[in-house]
Amino acid sequence: MRIGFLQLRPRFGAVKENVRKAIALLDQLSDATVVLPELFNTGYLFRNEEELSSLAETIPGGYTVSEMQKLAKKRQLNIVFGMAQRYKGAYYNSAVCVTSKGKIEVYQKVHLFDREKLFFTRGKSFKIVSTEQAKLGLLVCFDWIFPEAARTLALGGAQILCHPSNLVLPYAKDAMKTRCIENRVFGVTANRIGSERRGTMFLSFTGGSQIVNPAGDVLASASDRSESLRVVEIDVGEALDKNITTNNNLFEDRTPSLYKALVRKRR
Ligand code: ACM
Repeated sequence: MRIGFLQLRPRFGAVKENVRKAIALLDQLSDATVVLPELFNTGYLFRNEEELSSLAETIPGGYTVSEMQKLAKKRQLNIVFGMAQRYKGAYYNSAVCVTSKGKIEVYQKVHLFDREKLFFTRGKSFKIVSTEQAKLGLLVCFDWIFPEAARTLALGGAQILCHPSNLVLPYAKDAMKTRCIENRVFGVTANRIGSERRGTMFLSFTGGSQIVNPAGDVLASASDRSESLRVVEIDVGEALDKNITTNNNLFEDRTPSLYKALVRKRR
C-alpha cells in the first residue's frame, strides 16, 4: 500500500484558502493513505474562545469534511487531517479520517498542549480506523510524548500511527522513531511549517514531516521550509510481526503486573 504526508503552511483563519490549497495538491494523488497537519484548515494560535467558535466546524456537516470527503472518493484516498471540531457545546482538537469508501471517523485529542487547555475539551478515548488496506491509529501532535498513547493503539491492532501535528518542541520526530520501534508499527507525522504572530503570541512550527517504518528507519522526510507531498510504498504486513529476536516478542514479553506505579503517599 501507499502512505504519505502533505506538509503545509496554513494561513490563520483562511479556511477556504487552506482547504482549497490542500485539495489542489492532493488532486495529483490516488490510491493512498495520506496524513495532513493538525488544525490544517484554521491555523493554530487561537486568541480566545470566540475566535475558536467562529472557525470550528461540525463533523459531519461542515465545509472542511464535506470537501475532503468528495476528494477521498474522487481520488480513492484515505485522508487523515486535523481540524477544530464543534461537538455538543464544546470544542475538540480533532483528527478526522475520511475514507475512499465514504466513512468518517473522528479522534478527539487526549493530551492537550499548553494554551489548548484554555479552549479545547480533552478527548476521552483513542481511535483505530479500519480501512481496506490497514488499521490506522490516530494521534494528534502532543500525544507523541505519552508512550501510552501509541502503545494503546498498537495493542489495539493499529499498524500505522497517523499523526497530524503542529510541532513546536524539537524532540518529537526522534521520539516518534522510538514509538515506531517499541511498537513495531509504521508512523506518519505530518507537520506544518511557517509561524503565527497573533497579538503578543508567537509560535514557529518545525516542519520535517516524516514516514517511519517499524525498525525506526525514516522512509521519507520533508525540510522545515517548504510545503511538500511525499508518498512511499510499504508492506504493512511488517507491522504484524512483533518479534525483535527469535526469543523476544514485544507484546508477549510485556509484564503489565509490574508496571503499576510505585505510589508514594503525598503529605
Ligand atoms: C501541539 O500539540 N500542537 C504541540
